[in-house]
Amino acid sequence: MSDEIDYSRITGVEQLYERMSYLDFGNDSQKEVEKVLRLSDQIKPFYNLMMRYDCALAEVRTKLEVFNKELALKNNRNPFESIKSRIKTPVSIYDKLTKKGYDFTIKNIEEQISDIAGIRAICSFEDDIYMLADCFKKQDDIVILQEKDYIANPKESGYRSLHLIVEVPIFLTEEKYFMKVEVQFRTIAMDFWASLEHKMKYKKDIENADTITEDLKFSADLINQLDRRMQQIRQKIDASDSNDSQITPWLQHSDEDIIVQKETKEKIIDEIEKHNKRKSASNKKAKAIEKNDDIKIAKPRRTAIK
Ligand code: GTP
Ligand code: MG
Repeated sequence: MSDEIDYSRITGVEQLYERMSYLDFGNDSQKEVEKVLRLSDQIKPFYNLMMRYDCALAEVRTKLEVFNKELALKNNRNPFESIKSRIKTPVSIYDKLTKKGYDFTIKNIEEQISDIAGIRAICSFEDDIYMLADCFKKQDDIVILQEKDYIANPKESGYRSLHLIVEVPIFLTEEKYFMKVEVQFRTIAMDFWASLEHKMKYKKDIENADTITEDLKFSADLINQLDRRMQQIRQKIDASDSNDSQITPWLQHSDEDIIVQKETKEKIIDEIEKHNKRKSASNKKAKAIEKNDDIKIAKPRRTAIK
């Protein structure tokens, strides 16, 4: 029946769909959800809402990229390995609302679902996660709605990550909106586990579930140990390398730059060594004066007062 509806009567929808095609809404069941939307005359508001979520993702991504740029310069390494984002597909939105017992309406989407816009920041080390999440939470235009620390308290499955649900403002030409975004912070190791586990198991009914669950949990623990180990190694390297990284915070340029900077670095190290030698020589002298061993201080001559 719904096939007989003349969708082209809805002005501008096709163009809108074209423009939003990067959101990748194109498989069969997604078309079904679109039909539901069109029938209830909500396609335009729906795309408008998705556009706003997309803008919110851009805002959060920029905030994280700003950290990345600043800290790469300061510490000589990028705290983020990668930043991925996605907008939930209409089908997933539809399924989630239906599962929760809500109708597929714009209002319900906004009020009942908090992960339409999702961003995942993959960090190198666990301590980076907390440092970056703290910096992010401190920003005064962000409202923290919820925080779930699955690193300190891993899920039953063994899943680890730090999740924040935040509201971020977006500024359109005429209006300002606060949009919900789910931000997930993970290490590379946590992401490795979660991605594979998700592919194999998450929300699927499988046979031998118990043993597989055990195996996955065991792997999650190994992954956790690995994360800790890598962090300890980094801390050791940082400690032994601290002089170097203070002198060369900018050693991340072209080959030519690096050669020039290496020369400069060597000169600086030379200067520091010379300075240290001079300092230790003068320290020795000062100590010698204190002990009064190789420097004779002439006693004042007594002169008779006439
Ligand atoms: P969803 O309905 O899946 O969004 O879960 P939720 O609303 O109860 O929130 P929760 O914080 O538990 O999970 C949010 C997201 O974290 C999920 O969409 C997944 O991306 C991820 N996640 C949570 N638990 C697991 C897990 O056991 N395995 C994997 N691979 N991912 C998980
Ligand atoms: Mg989710």
